[in-house]
Amino acid sequence: MPVEERLIIDFVGGAVGYRLRQREGRGQALPKAIGLGKGAPPFIVDATAGMGRDAFLLASLGAHVTLIERNTAVHVALADAMERARKTSPEFSEIIGRMTLLCGDSRELLVGLAPEVVLVDPMHPPRGKSALVKKEMRVLREYVGDDPDQRELIETALNAARQRVVLKWPLRAKPLGGLRKPSHQIIGKTTRYDVFMIS
Ligand SMILES: C[S@@+](CC[C@H](N)C(=O)[O-])C[C@H]1O[C@@H](n2cnc3c(N)ncnc32)[C@H](O)[C@@H]1O
Repeated sequence: MPVEERLIIDFVGGAVGYRLRQREGRGQALPKAIGLGKGAPPFIVDATAGMGRDAFLLASLGAHVTLIERNTAVHVALADAMERARKTSPEFSEIIGRMTLLCGDSRELLVGLAPEVVLVDPMHPPRGKSALVKKEMRVLREYVGDDPDQRELIETALNAARQRVVLKWPLRAKPLGGLRKPSHQIIGKTTRYDVFMIS
């Protein structure tokens, strides 16, 4: 399918910059699910980097995050956004300095990285009311499709992570089939985080 709109990623303006300025801290659903407490943050791999928003939030809270994106065009847009943000201010430069971006398939790269925590946020099932889907997610889907191999990715993450795997999924969507029950869940406004602890 031809891509009709350019994917634009921006860490400084828009929703991501706004969220940074709100300084909501580690009490937010994602950092809680990741296990960002008062101590030293774990080594996190974001196995589905996408537009980098989750990784940026975690890095803004002091964590070192390795981001993996397999779609070349998305990877290029992300690298470009990181470079622009880096030049914006010392604060942004410090945050971006905690983000390492890799291009490739996480199913191949995860094992060699030996992460403590893996975040998996695959493309979610398409929503019926397409007008409600944010434009940027529609554009991203045009680039990457549906991620049909997401179960395989989660299984790989469960084998590679040393502490936990966090699966981000829409609150009201049907759960991904064939997975073991999560250890616990963190429920956000529209999203839930299934946390699989590694024993
Ligand atoms: C829903 S988006 C992630 C959004 C991201 N959490 C954010 O905050 O912007 C999913 C992304 O993961 C990527 N992806 C899916 N499976 C992958 C895999 N096995 N390896 C690397 N990237 C993958 C897709 O190409 C897509 O860009």
